[in-house]
Parts: sequence; structure tokens; C-alpha cells
Amino acid sequence: MRCCVLVFCLILLGSCRKDSPLQTDELWGAYNPQPYPFPEAFSNFPPVPEFDWNKTTIEGVTLGRNLYYDNILSTNGKSCSSCHVQQSAFTISDAGPNGMGIPAHINLAWNSSFGWTGSAHALDSVALADLEEGNIFLNANNDSILARFKRNEDYQRMFWNAFGVKIIEESVHERKKYISYALAQFMRTQISYNSKFDKYLRGEINLTDDEMAGYDIFMNESKGDCFHCHGSESNPMWRDNLLHNNGLNSVFTGNDLGLYSVTENINDIGKFRTPTLRNIELTSPYMHDGRYTTLEEVVNFYSTGLQNSPTVDPLMKKVNEGGVQLNPTEKMQLVAFLKTLTDPSFVANPYLGNPD
Ligand code: HEC
Ligand code: HEC
Repeated sequence: MRCCVLVFCLILLGSCRKDSPLQTDELWGAYNPQPYPFPEAFSNFPPVPEFDWNKTTIEGVTLGRNLYYDNILSTNGKSCSSCHVQQSAFTISDAGPNGMGIPAHINLAWNSSFGWTGSAHALDSVALADLEEGNIFLNANNDSILARFKRNEDYQRMFWNAFGVKIIEESVHERKKYISYALAQFMRTQISYNSKFDKYLRGEINLTDDEMAGYDIFMNESKGDCFHCHGSESNPMWRDNLLHNNGLNSVFTGNDLGLYSVTENINDIGKFRTPTLRNIELTSPYMHDGRYTTLEEVVNFYSTGLQNSPTVDPLMKKVNEGGVQLNPTEKMQLVAFLKTLTDPSFVANPYLGNPD
């Protein structure tokens, strides 16, 4: 089922943006988009990756942000922001459709794959799946999207400013492409780089003894041993961009099949993309099916709840003992460290909020 839900197909993205020479529209003036001023003070982040054919511009981000918060793309009253809510680091506190956990939108610009099974490979095309007719998230209908753009001159102007196109004259394929490009541009600006741990790395603050001890447990191969998959100070995305079976189940069916539901390769059973731990305090419930609601439950799972199966990741080294066997103090310290990855300025950033 998952693979049908998430046909994150890389539809041919079409290549050319109408960049130059400068074009002018009688009504809306010159098409002259300005490069988006990404923040400079990242904690040792690599530069923001983007494709030449969809460079992030102020005008593209404005359009994408409006679309993200508007139910104009759906026939069920929902918008992207119904499920990707800023206060929860762009997920929601309920399980999503079919009991699926909803991945948070945090630093997606640096992801090399998307969705729980990693089946989409360019942020610029992720929203195309949402725009499929009758998609379960938005129940999209492309005639109705067109009709609503026709009635809405603000959107027509925003598409012109962002891409130099008259959106209501474009084909369905092109229209979906530009919507998807704009949403990707906005999602590239959902950047979190001001957690307590970032500030510690920049030398601006100190961590408490418990937080430091928790980080040691996270990094220590004979303690928590979390860093292989979940990053470290040298991988401040706090995820590895890979898929693993982290030992949640011994038998896998339905939504638990993971990558297998896409590849039908038995070696892929139960493999899911590692979620970022950034803002993890805010993104409950946890795991692809939202089975845990607290970080304490997650730490208990890694400590004593691991389930063995043929595809369990070799990095779950203590699976035969049921887990990494942390004592109550160590568990408390690990959770204290995880909470240093929370970035209050991200969830309060007015530029990422509803533009209305
Ligand atoms: C009804 C809830 C819902 C709505 C509405 C929704 N999404 Fe999602 N979104 C999800 C779920 C669930 C997933 C995980 C899907 C999976 O992996 O199978 C997801 C995954 C994603 C991902 C991948 C994130 C990652 O870390 O891999 C992106 C990007 C995304 N959505 C963008 C959007 C955009 C843009 C919109 C609006 C056009 C939108 N979503 C509307 C529920 C929703
Ligand atoms: C072998 C790689 C691997 C190791 C080691 C690992 N994890 Fe995970 N972690 C994952 C994967 C994969 C998921 C998502 C699994 C799923 O949803 O099916 C996950 C999920 C999580 C989540 C929930 C994230 C969310 O947004 O739902 C937390 C929290 C977490 N891990 C913390 C830890 C901690 C703490 C440790 C060390 C004790 C650890 N992990 C060790 C791979 C790993």
C-alpha cells in the first residue's frame, strides 16, 4: 500500500526556467527574481544544495510559502500545513493517514531521499505525488486547482514573479511542475541551526553535566551507540540519509514492510529512512507508525526492547541481548542530550509561518 500512497515518481522535471533575457508583462511588470538570502551563520553546515533549474529566489519562496499554507491545492480542505505544523517542527502530534508517522520538515534541502522508504530523490519533485488526482493527503483535482488560480490574480502574479510564466495558460504537467518547484523552494528555507547543541558547538553556551554525559552515551560504542545512524557534531543533520531496520519488529506486515514494499527484495524488509533527531522533542509520535509518544519510551526500546529478524541492521550490535542496556541515570542523561537538539527559533521563525 505504501508504495501506492507514495508514488513519489520522478516525473521528468522539464529543464528550462525562463530566466533571461528579462521579460516584462503588461500587467505585472518585469520578471526579475532575486536570489534568496540564506542565513550565513550555520553551525558547520555545508552550503544549501539546489539545482540550477530551480534556484531558490525570494519570489519562489513567497509563492511556495503561500501554497504550503493554502488549501487551494486540495479538495478536502487540507493544506500542506494541516499535517506539517510549524509548532511541531512541521509534523503533527497525531498519526497521519493510515496510521503513518509524518516526517518533520527540517533541513530537507540536505536530504538525498524523502519519505519513510526514501523513494523520492529530489525535493523539487516531492509535491508532485501530492498533486496526483485523488491523492490521499490532499484529494487533489487539477481542474479545480486551475479554476481557483483563474479566480485568483494574486497567485497568477506570484507565479509570474517566481518563474516568468502565466500559470493559467500552462499545461497540467507544467502547472504541477511549477507548484512543486515553488513548494521545494519554500521547504529549502525550513532550516534549523539554532538548537542548544548548535550554540554549544559555536562556543556560545555550555551544556549541563547531564546533557554532556548524554552526548557521551550517544557517541560511545559500548553505551548508546546511536551516532552511526543519527549523526554527531560532524554531521549536524543528525541523520545519515540511509535506510535501516532498527529492530522494531520480529515479523513485518503491512506498513511495517518498509523498503520491501517498493523493491520487493526480501533483504529490504523493515528498512526505513533514519529520521533526523533535530527537534526530536517536538515531533512526537515517533517511528514510521508513530508507536511511541515519549523519548523515554524510545530510549527504553533501544535499551531493552529490540526485536531480532533476518534484516536487522548489523549496527544494532546488542540485539541478542535486547538492546544497549542503559541504567536509569544513563537513560535520563541520553534524553537530556536529545532535548539539546531542540531549536525554539525554528518553530517560532515568522518567515516560516502562515503568511496570512
Ligand atoms: C494528510 C497529511 C499530509 C498532508 C496534507 C501533506 N503531507 Fe507531506 N507527508 C505526510 C506523510 C504521512 C508523509 C510520509 C509519507 C511516506 O513516507 O510514506 C509525508 C511526507 C512528506 C515529505 C517527505 C519528508 C521527509 O522527511 O522525507 C515532504 C517533503 C512532504 N510530505 C511535503 C508535503 C507538501 C509540500 C504538502 C502539500 C502539498 C504535504 N506534504 C501535504 C502527510 C501529509
Ligand atoms: C542502525 C541505525 C540506528 C541506530 C544505531 C539507532 N537508530 Fe534510531 N532510528 C533509526 C531508524 C531507521 C529509525 C526509524 C525507524 C522506523 O520508523 O521504522 C530510528 C528512529 C529513531 C527515533 C524516532 C525518530 C522519529 O522522528 O520518529 C529516535 C528518537 C531514535 N531513533 C533515537 C535513537 C537513539 C537514542 C539511538 C541510540 C540509543 C538510536 N536511535 C540508534 C536508526 C538507528
